Amino acid sequence: MKFVFGFTLFLLTGFTLGNEILNSKEYSSSFNVMDYGAVGDGKVDDSQLGGTLIAPESTSWTDGQVAVWIQFSSVENLILDGGGTIDGQGSIWWQPCMKTSIFGFYFDCNRRPTALHFNNCNGLRLKGLTHLNSPMLHISINACKDVVVSNLHIKAPEDSPNTDGIDIADSSNVQIQDSTIGTGDDCVAINGGSCFINITGVNCGPGHGISVGSLGDGPYDTVEEFHVKNCNFSNTQNGGMGKLHSYEILQKATAIQVSDVTYSDIQGTSASDRAIDLDCDKVVGCSNIVMNNVQITRSGTGPQIYGSCNNAHGTAINVQPEVPCLS
Ligand SMILES: *[C@@H]1O[C@H](CO)[C@@H](O)[C@H](O)[C@H]1NC(C)=O
Ligand SMILES: *[C@@H]1O[C@H](CO)[C@@H](O)[C@H](O)[C@H]1NC(C)=O
Repeated sequence: MKFVFGFTLFLLTGFTLGNEILNSKEYSSSFNVMDYGAVGDGKVDDSQLGGTLIAPESTSWTDGQVAVWIQFSSVENLILDGGGTIDGQGSIWWQPCMKTSIFGFYFDCNRRPTALHFNNCNGLRLKGLTHLNSPMLHISINACKDVVVSNLHIKAPEDSPNTDGIDIADSSNVQIQDSTIGTGDDCVAINGGSCFINITGVNCGPGHGISVGSLGDGPYDTVEEFHVKNCNFSNTQNGGMGKLHSYEILQKATAIQVSDVTYSDIQGTSASDRAIDLDCDKVVGCSNIVMNNVQITRSGTGPQIYGSCNNAHGTAINVQPEVPCLS
């Protein structure tokens, strides 16, 4: 039974296997996929996306409240796959932010929607889709357990603001595998409340790498058991491999406790001088950080790249550039 997702979208949005525009008149804020025939018993294939699903080329389709375009909430064992494309047509949303960018921080653009959001979807499988040009985050995974994300292509321009590939928060047992992610911000961002997260076989870049401890959006304050293996970074900026940090950047008072993180068999090129950046809170620190066989070189020409760290503890074997705080 492979019809439900396409069928659902057809009913709701006029979606067909060609390229259709999601028409704002037909848009309403939430649907229960179970009402449209989804089964979610882990056996039935509920959700194939074959064609291209395109967001309207306008910022007027949200009511200012909805910060997501497509959301799945509390669907158990959802499978979303197929060779289709989800195109967020983000450039119209990026323009005002890019105009008001100051030192790399963006203003005037808080209300942009995430393209695809999963909330409390245990057993989620997401595979084979292409995700283009989200207004903001391409995919966010919140409060989900047992998730496998594989064979995705996520793409947005290098200068598009805050267009993270995949953001994970308050989730556990998440595998991200065999995907290519190149956007204007983090390829993957791991936020507070997340544990047992493995990332393998990901080609990341351009972008800001795989970052840990970016802003969380809940009262959770740990990231534990996070493993990155067999990944390539190309031309990544802002701490090439991605920042690992444990303090809260903006308004939050609590620092994130980061522990048991491994990076193994990583190669890549960094577009910034600081290729490895372990920047941890001075009270909670980051513990048991293990780097094994990590080789980063500079992309293009410029000063020698370096590894930087504050309050991070662990070990490094065969790591270039050297990370001084790891033994
Ligand atoms: C995640 O990575 C860790 C460390 O490499 C490994 O021990 C564990 O088996 C992996 N988990 C899965 C589900 O692949
Ligand atoms: C990373 O690059 C190497 C060499 O360019 C390649 O052999 C390997 O398959 C790449 N890894 C991934 C995850 O694509």
